[in-house]
Amino acid sequence: MEQNERMSLVEYTDRYGKICENTDLIPGELFDEYGVKRGLRDKNGNGVLSGLTHISKIEAFKNIDGKKVPCDGRLWYRGYNIIDLVKGFTDKRFGYEEIAYLLLFGKLPKDKELCDFKKILSASRTLPTNFTRDVIMKAPSKDIMNSVTKSVLTLASYDENMTDQSIGNVLRQCLQLIGILPMLSVYGYHAYNHYECGDSFYIHRPDENLSTAENILMMLRPDKKYTELETKVLDIALVLHMEHGGGNNSTFTTRVVTSAGSDTYSVVAAALSSLKGPKHGGANIKVVEMMRELKEEVADLNDEEAIKVYLGKLLDKQAFDKKGLIYGMGHAVYSLSDPRAQIFKGFVEKLAEAKGRDEDFKIYAAVERLAPEVIADKRKIYKGVSANVDFYSGFVYSMLDIPLELYTPIFAMARIVGWSAHRIEELVNVDKIIRPAYLSIMEEKEYTYLEER
Ligand SMILES: CC(C)(COP(=O)(O)OP(=O)(O)OC[C@H]1O[C@@H](n2cnc3c(N)ncnc32)[C@H](O)[C@@H]1OP(=O)(O)O)[C@@H](O)C(=O)NCCC(=O)NCCS
Repeated sequence: MEQNERMSLVEYTDRYGKICENTDLIPGELFDEYGVKRGLRDKNGNGVLSGLTHISKIEAFKNIDGKKVPCDGRLWYRGYNIIDLVKGFTDKRFGYEEIAYLLLFGKLPKDKELCDFKKILSASRTLPTNFTRDVIMKAPSKDIMNSVTKSVLTLASYDENMTDQSIGNVLRQCLQLIGILPMLSVYGYHAYNHYECGDSFYIHRPDENLSTAENILMMLRPDKKYTELETKVLDIALVLHMEHGGGNNSTFTTRVVTSAGSDTYSVVAAALSSLKGPKHGGANIKVVEMMRELKEEVADLNDEEAIKVYLGKLLDKQAFDKKGLIYGMGHAVYSLSDPRAQIFKGFVEKLAEAKGRDEDFKIYAAVERLAPEVIADKRKIYKGVSANVDFYSGFVYSMLDIPLELYTPIFAMARIVGWSAHRIEELVNVDKIIRPAYLSIMEEKEYTYLEER
């Protein structure tokens, strides 16, 4: 290229991106040599111990004769097994509000306490005047997680006590955000769908007599209609996604940003940015897209060998997004099974039957069975790989006619409860900024003046 010829930004970044790739690459063996726990986890997948929590507990291993042995996954919220919690409300009432109360306040609510909590949450479901017009409808994005994050950050400027870190004030902010997140997400989708896809624009305001799950489907659908089974399954999905320990990526982000003394809006915006990653909350979209390709590529869907060949291609980076992953499989903590996926599966089957999607359900069940074998053939498995909660959640959302763009925001509507509980626990207990160490392997160099380089 001539001296005064101008490179386009893309040409420049193509060329210099390769320079970054070479300069920044650190040989893998150095991490072992210096004992660095990549991803803050050891070779067995255990996270580096970085905190204590009362909020939830995950079990993926059992101690048998002094040996750590993988076992079926178990999950507790505030001391209660998730299986018992789901059993406790299914068939009687919606669970979102009751389990949110449990996670935030550490005890199961009595009737009156639950009733008051629901009223507070309903009252929180209001946006500042003209917020939909001035913020949500402006510059709509196909990426609803980005649009929700923008809205959350903007809400900070409407809060006169934005920086007040007293627990009462933070709880107020958290409850308001928990109440509002479904509106920010669904309205963000309607704005995108109208401006970018040319569909009609409509806004249904939340109904204070409806549960969170009912409000989500009511606000989303043009005719406001839904069935009982649809809202039940969505409610259970929300409960199962609500909390998962302090170490999951978005909750740890919540803890990190909270420890810096940042405000609730910024903390939730950071957590949302973490959650949208395809290795975290974005996985359920990938599952649905991957399964769509599987159905196109596998000629006979009853032929398990043919399904295995396709799964092998995924791992060999020859199919779908060529990242070498089977989405919806594996978990950083769970080994033999993810209890959330196990609980969910029964409800998913019922919904699939009601929606005439039994054939699809069979294909999902086949992939759930076959994928761990195929992964074990091609990767070194330390602790076992099984279907995670997102394997079925994307399928459920597709049966509920929820658009792909809202899959991760729905996860966020649930997980914001866990983030809130962890933000409060961090504020109550810890007064130290989280600051792990990076060992520098940089070489010191002699400076050279521009004209001498
Ligand atoms: C969640 C995830 C990041 C956990 O990865 P991890 O902590 O490395 O899990 P493990 O230690 O059990 O993995 C053991 C090996 O199997 C591989 N593996 C695990 N799950 C896999 C998957 N779904 N597809 C392909 N390979 C997988 C890992 O990459 C690792 O191989 P490596 O050492 O060569 O990198 C991983 O399972 C994944 O990317 N899954 C797909 C995305 C997904 O569904 N995310 C939602 C999580 S709720």
